[in-house]
Amino acid sequence: MFEAMEMAPPDAILGLTEAFKNDPNPEKISLSVGVYKDDTGTTPILECVKQAESRIIENENSKSYLGIDGLAEYGPLVRDLIFGEDIGGRAVTLQTPGGTGALRVSGDFLKHKVGASTIWLSNPTWANHGGVFNAAGLNTETYTYLNESRTGLDFQGLLDSISQIPGGDVICLHACCHNPTGVDPTAEQWEQVAALCNERGILPLVDFAYQGFGNGITEDAAALIPFRQGGKEFIVCSSFSKNFGLYGERIGALTVVSEDDNTAPVTLSHAKRAVRTNYSNPPKHGGAIVSTVLSDEQLRSQWESEVAQMRNRINDMRDKFVKAMQQRNAPVDFGFIQSQRGMFSFSGLNKEQVDTLRNDHSIYIVGSGRINVAGLTDENLERFCDCVMQVL
Ligand code: LMR
Repeated sequence: MFEAMEMAPPDAILGLTEAFKNDPNPEKISLSVGVYKDDTGTTPILECVKQAESRIIENENSKSYLGIDGLAEYGPLVRDLIFGEDIGGRAVTLQTPGGTGALRVSGDFLKHKVGASTIWLSNPTWANHGGVFNAAGLNTETYTYLNESRTGLDFQGLLDSISQIPGGDVICLHACCHNPTGVDPTAEQWEQVAALCNERGILPLVDFAYQGFGNGITEDAAALIPFRQGGKEFIVCSSFSKNFGLYGERIGALTVVSEDDNTAPVTLSHAKRAVRTNYSNPPKHGGAIVSTVLSDEQLRSQWESEVAQMRNRINDMRDKFVKAMQQRNAPVDFGFIQSQRGMFSFSGLNKEQVDTLRNDHSIYIVGSGRINVAGLTDENLERFCDCVMQVL
């Protein structure tokens, strides 16, 4: 049975990590997978995380299973973080293995319990969105997102696209730091998007993987405000891979918001069934870390300053990249990179240029031209810019 199978293609993002590891060039640069690097090129463990872990290890007395929806204290803490306040009994939260786990559970829930058939994804979107939702049995369609130069938002195009989505379908939105483009709507534009979704009966699923990496922890949550205030149903899939640096611990959250307090426990009961038939219950350690940090005043404020440090370093690298390309008289104005936010930017480099960067210079970026700006450092910036100049 196995012999009849053909080799599957490598993953568009994680496949590059494998190729990078096998590249013997000592000057190789990885700007593919969305992992933060500090000035020294390492992906650090946050200090607040280290402190939380030592407290956890000291006090932990069992490795027994968690409940299907995770640690009891986790849900309220996550909701406070993403909504900035207690939103009462309308919302339920499940601890999930990463943001991807939250997306997949929501896909199962939407397909098998809500009866949704299609989810609309921004064009472009994270390379794994389509695969995750298709695996749950949902069809995928795309809506307009980028302007003609592919460096900013086509807001009218976005509204026009949403106006064509049938009621009862689901729309996947990125709360901040749009992956792969770094292009986000403003708070006012989010109000219009939310109003239109509500008017048309489209269910918003908000992927919230980069809270704090855009303009600030509170600022980045602005996208959720009009959805919450609109009083309609929506879903939020959070990830703590990036803002807590907990990539390998696989920790995220699925929050389902209903119109009323009575419906919320019903949604939870079905989401729990989706979990039980998938991975049974979530891993414990990442949830314990996030809960410990968010519930302790000193650790929380330390986390906030560590997130600010990461954010500032990324924005600094954006500025340095743009200046370095200007100094080289680049034939392209990269100024748009400075106004984009989060880990990623769409560089505008085409497939051929991306392939040349990889084959001739051992520089790895995603095929779409997405650059992980958080992988640039003072040490690799000059070589990166020289090589980009060559392929341009
Ligand atoms: C990315 O987009 O690079 C990250 O979200 C990591 C991943 O799993 O793809």
